[in-house]
Amino acid sequence: MPKISFAEFDSAHAAPVAEICLAHGNKPDHLLEILHDVQGKLGHVPQEVLPIIAKALNLSRAEVHGVVTFYHDYHQHPTGKHVIKICRAEACQSAGGFAVIAALEKATGTKLGETSADGRFTLEAVYCLGLCPMGPAALIDGKPVAAIKPKKVDALVKELA
Ligand code: FES
Repeated sequence: MPKISFAEFDSAHAAPVAEICLAHGNKPDHLLEILHDVQGKLGHVPQEVLPIIAKALNLSRAEVHGVVTFYHDYHQHPTGKHVIKICRAEACQSAGGFAVIAALEKATGTKLGETSADGRFTLEAVYCLGLCPMGPAALIDGKPVAAIKPKKVDALVKELA
């Protein structure tokens, strides 16, 4: 495989991201796995690494950007220590999801779609976790939690702290 130069990229992430791409053989059909590994290494997928990945895989930056923005599991900005993904789809909303979201915002000190100022919590919306009959549902640091009641949110958040 010919060696690719990444010298034009003024980024501390150029070398590690290029290594990840190379570990996947610089194959465009490994883009999802590469983005997963980049996020595992950096904690998120910053904009500055998109052209590096695009060059390594011989894709356009727009193609890489399209994938990163399509899948909500890729974070474009650093997340909090704990990531709470709350379901906003219909079944969970009709089971009291709005009240749970309000309680989560109060307990974590942040708004849906944001990260708390102390960096402890990120609140994200997701649209169906496959737990519809047991809503409102959430993923808390990757673990599914069902039938969340607003009055239990404080305890859930305290457990994380
Ligand atoms: S609607 Fe919330 S888990 Fe399906």
